[in-house]
Amino acid sequence: MMKKRILSGMRPTGKLHLGHLAGALENWVKLQNSYDCFFMVADWHALMSEYENSSLISEYSIDNVVDWLSVGIRPANSTIFIQSSIPEHLELYMMFSCLVPLSWVERIPTYKEQLRELKNREIHTYGFLGYPVLQAADILIYNADAVPVGQDQLPHLELTREISRRFNYIYKKQLFREPKDILTSFPKLLGIDGRKMSKSYNNTINLSDSVEEVRKKVLAMITDPKRIYKSDPGHPEICNVHTYYEVFFPDYSGEVSDYCRKAKVGCRDCKEDLARRINEKLMPIRKKREDLLCKKKKIIEIIESGNEKAGKTASSMMKKIKEIINLCPIR
Ligand code: TRP
Repeated sequence: MMKKRILSGMRPTGKLHLGHLAGALENWVKLQNSYDCFFMVADWHALMSEYENSSLISEYSIDNVVDWLSVGIRPANSTIFIQSSIPEHLELYMMFSCLVPLSWVERIPTYKEQLRELKNREIHTYGFLGYPVLQAADILIYNADAVPVGQDQLPHLELTREISRRFNYIYKKQLFREPKDILTSFPKLLGIDGRKMSKSYNNTINLSDSVEEVRKKVLAMITDPKRIYKSDPGHPEICNVHTYYEVFFPDYSGEVSDYCRKAKVGCRDCKEDLARRINEKLMPIRKKREDLLCKKKKIIEIIESGNEKAGKTASSMMKKIKEIINLCPIR
């Protein structure tokens, strides 16, 4: 039987961190065993917020792919490609923008939230309103069966299904599928300062951090504020360090919380132990990364061949779409 297809993407706006690992990449690595996977560097989406400061987008695009490969995405199983290398995404985006009612995009909660939150960027733009429409095109140009995403992306996926239905209805064709979500559920991983993990807060632990950097960052983490002396019993349920144990070392987190509640281990020792474990976990990723960085040419080849494969699928789909809507096919 043909494998079902999934597509997912990340915006290349910075180095990847532990939040990406727990929230997406570990899931991607598993999914590639049972699905036909397309993993995309969403550089047009990155540009929508970074257009005033776009000098690093290309560098981050490659760097993110290196991280994907380092954590175990295998080019033999998965198509790794760059969104801007495949012009059909934009063609379909244009087509969709003709049939998407304005109210559908204006009501998307992520849109309103981002306008409020990204205060240091001017994103009151024409393009940014279309963010989820481009995302719908990303997904539907490959007619993906499912999309692995985090909770925050669900409204975008719902819009994708609505667009799919609207196209099929208007043109009386059953062309597009209605992609399902594959939700990654894990307790929200906060940054080392207890705020949302984000490179703009400078509170991330990156996959490419050195052993010493990881240790320094972990030791700077805020623990249970009520536990002042080592002899005070702690409250793991409100401790960010404990969440890291739960997310990354679930087999061990019960024991850690027991030690904490009974005041058997102090916060400093608990963090030293966490740093050691994270470093151990990151070690094979680091090795693979260093190895890959010596083979720049190979990375380029992987992306080129992913682009080629994605391009073929996208162009044959776009051809069908143009036929259906009756755009002039003369080249
Ligand atoms: N919006 C996604 C994010 O910020 C990135 C993305 C772009 C994406 N296109 C996609 C994710 C298509 C899944 C499918 O995480």
